[in-house]
Amino acid sequence: MDLVDFFSAAEARTDRWRQLNASSRAWEASIEQGKPDEKLRTEAAQLFAEIRPLEDYWAYPGPRLMTTIGEALEQHNAGVFVRLVQKISNALLTGSYRYESAAWDPLLEGEGGAPDVLPPDVKPGEAHKPYFEVLLVTPNDPKTWERARNELKRLRRPEDMFNYEIVQVGSFEDGALGTIFNHNVQAIVIYDGFPFRSRHDLPVMREFLLRHLRVDPVSIAPGALATTLARTVRNFRPELDVYLLTDRAVEKLAGSDEAAPIRRIFHNIEEVMEVHLAILDGVSERYDTPFFSNLKKYAQRPVGTFHALPIARGKSVFRSNWIRDMGQFYGTNLFLAESSATTGGLDSLLEPTGNIKKAQEMAARAFGSKRAYFATNGTSTSNKIVVQAVCKPGDIVIVDRNCHKSHHYGFVLAGAQPYYVEAYPLTQYSMYGAVPLRTIKKVLLNCKAEGTLDRVKVVDMTNCTFDGHMYNPKRLMEECLAIKPDLIFLWDEAWFGFARFNALHRRRTAMGAAAALTTRYRDPAYRDEYKAFAAKAGKLDPTDAKLLEMHLLPDPDKVRIRVYQTNSTHKSMSALRQGSMILVWDEDFYKVEGPFEEAFFTHTSTSPNQQIIASLDVARRQMELEGYELTMKMTELSLKLRREVNGHPLISKYFRIATPEDMIPAEFRGSGLKDYGPPNSNWRDAIDALDNDEFALDPTRLTLICGTAGFDGTEFKNLLAERFDVQINKTSRNSILVQTNINNTRSDAALLIKVLADLSREIDSRLDKGGKEEQEIFAARVKSLMTDVPDLPNFSRFHDAFRDNPKAASNEGHMRPAFFMAYDDSNCEFVKLASREIDERLKKGPELVSANFVIPYPPGFPIMVPGQVITSETIAFMRKLDVKEIHGYHAAHGLKLLKPAALAGRKASASDR
Ligand SMILES: Cc1ncc(COP(=O)(O)O)c(C=O)c1O
Repeated sequence: MDLVDFFSAAEARTDRWRQLNASSRAWEASIEQGKPDEKLRTEAAQLFAEIRPLEDYWAYPGPRLMTTIGEALEQHNAGVFVRLVQKISNALLTGSYRYESAAWDPLLEGEGGAPDVLPPDVKPGEAHKPYFEVLLVTPNDPKTWERARNELKRLRRPEDMFNYEIVQVGSFEDGALGTIFNHNVQAIVIYDGFPFRSRHDLPVMREFLLRHLRVDPVSIAPGALATTLARTVRNFRPELDVYLLTDRAVEKLAGSDEAAPIRRIFHNIEEVMEVHLAILDGVSERYDTPFFSNLKKYAQRPVGTFHALPIARGKSVFRSNWIRDMGQFYGTNLFLAESSATTGGLDSLLEPTGNIKKAQEMAARAFGSKRAYFATNGTSTSNKIVVQAVCKPGDIVIVDRNCHKSHHYGFVLAGAQPYYVEAYPLTQYSMYGAVPLRTIKKVLLNCKAEGTLDRVKVVDMTNCTFDGHMYNPKRLMEECLAIKPDLIFLWDEAWFGFARFNALHRRRTAMGAAAALTTRYRDPAYRDEYKAFAAKAGKLDPTDAKLLEMHLLPDPDKVRIRVYQTNSTHKSMSALRQGSMILVWDEDFYKVEGPFEEAFFTHTSTSPNQQIIASLDVARRQMELEGYELTMKMTELSLKLRREVNGHPLISKYFRIATPEDMIPAEFRGSGLKDYGPPNSNWRDAIDALDNDEFALDPTRLTLICGTAGFDGTEFKNLLAERFDVQINKTSRNSILVQTNINNTRSDAALLIKVLADLSREIDSRLDKGGKEEQEIFAARVKSLMTDVPDLPNFSRFHDAFRDNPKAASNEGHMRPAFFMAYDDSNCEFVKLASREIDERLKKGPELVSANFVIPYPPGFPIMVPGQVITSETIAFMRKLDVKEIHGYHAAHGLKLLKPAALAGRKASASDR
């Protein structure tokens, strides 16, 4: 079993059924031809025997169909065997078993027809009733299982909002495995009294439980198996509802910490109806979308509008002679659901008291935060809100210089002083990695030594980065909090909102870390750990270099968990463009509640888009109900793509997907993990790396190196779009970023692989035909793209005029006065990039000081910020830069600089704060 298997149980299963389908047909064909082939029958029987134990974890096809198939095989009845295998295989592939009762019955024809994947307005029909499965862990004899299943089934009523089926298993191991493998499971009902061991032999699972879920059967207290299973399941899939039926003293159990992960506890097994209703209720709580549902209701009402927004209700569109096509294109509902009102069943994003408030609370639950706020102008806005909420003028923010520009603009607006820290460079791909913990610790210790630590308010990092570098937020926050126990962390998880929904990504998220640290510091065992650390470390001397090597621990009596996360819900989930969220886990939120509200008012439109808010509500519903399945599948797809491209004999001659080894230097990869999956690693290695390494690579973000095929990133991006209808977004000098997402299918993967194979063939044939000359041109092009890459310039420093203490070792500066100085033209001058003046001033002065942000796309980080002294490295980089889009720089004018005369004699003063 390797990592892919954990992600791919569902896909691998469908594949196995298709394989069985093919082999059973071959067997049947041999019979029809009058030459029954026993070998083919044995092959089919073997495949079926492999499939059979795994099917115990899914409700469909279920025991009835499986027994019938087994009997057909024993009776050498190829006809029935083939028909049923085909029926199941199709039903699994299309998902028709979720709504077609014929798919469940061995005697009925039909497996459910076309896949339910067409847009709902293309395939109208009766309202869709969602389907899910309930995992029942029971100590009862398997012979009684069918009766128990039927008992629950009898309780179904037509008015139920959902359909569900039951899967029964008989042990702890099987319960855990069912939770991991079966994406359809939404609720788990645990009957007390089952054994730990599965009746199947599952050595890998045993190890997985021990290593990954930290379940050691030896240390489970007698009688605690059921509650341990509940905790294990919720740790792995926090969104699931867990119910416990026990004849222990439920009153006592209900109030204990042990029972915290359990939604409801029932006494004995007499409560079938209650259990059934609780299951439906639990799922409907996640299904509920307070704002979206109200908006739908609102759209049905005959409202007369006398407010702005003539487009609301569509009358200005539908009656128009000239813009009717807009109505046709978008459909009626979009207009019926538009309103600028905040009454009549709607709510106000700026002052939510009704369904938006409720929707935000539900988002907080789903994403594992204490609070959640919706934003309708992207994470660009969310970042500015958080920066302004937690910083006042003069506060210092330790920030990755490669953060999205919204952070830098946020500092200007808030008057905060950025203390820029550098990520490690990946010069070979013209991109940056992430900021080493050592760098951040050193900066904090510098500030402590210089007496400015009290002004350091925030550490601000991007997780994961555009290119997929995931921090270890738990470790980072822990060590920073050891130096300053009330630090606030802003984690820009613009790309990473989905990560909450599977256990592998979740361990690298800000909210996952906030929860884990809160639990850790409350644990009495941590006090002992801290005591031992404090005795060894003594009083932290900021000049002591050994602190950089030690794992520092915060004082449990002083530490505060103050974590903010922003995510572009629209980037990784089903929200409309600009839909974003701010997640908050701040134990001292009361201190910033007022400023947070002000910041929210500052940046939020008074006309937030209703559809964006509704889509945030719906995206949350989706992730709570199918986020696990979707994120597991997307991860699987990415692992397959990685393996296919890098292992393909032809494609890998010219293209390569960068591996963790390529993207993360060895010093940050303690595990030594080189790549995901065989031959380089197995699931153990991958999980260890995700748990412990300083940085890990998000497998779903694939840096595809195209320089080795002679394409620069932009050229390749355009080629993919124009010739092959493949769209990607980010490029570097010699690579493109292929992001897999929850919408990607195996067909998308096949398309990309086909494109790469076709292009590789073309290059092969061009080089063959062109002979030596062509090969030399190609080699020179590859060399120029892959080797002659410009060095990435570090942040130099702020000009002394913007520094409180120009002699300090720290580098924070007042960016806001520099930014606003440039508003006065008389303070500014332009110097052409290619001019000799630049070289002369670099040599002899006066210093070149940037008047504004200069942000090339790609790579997208500011290579100059207002007030920054420009160095020869920056100029060399700019001159080599071959991208067209450089925000803040117009070649015709040149670089915009602050005039030396305007800076002469200027000193930072209290008014800069
Ligand atoms: C790291 C990061 N943060 C924030 C943003 C801005 O997000 P949005 O497009 O939702 O405004 C981006 C956009 O690409 C980003 O890459």
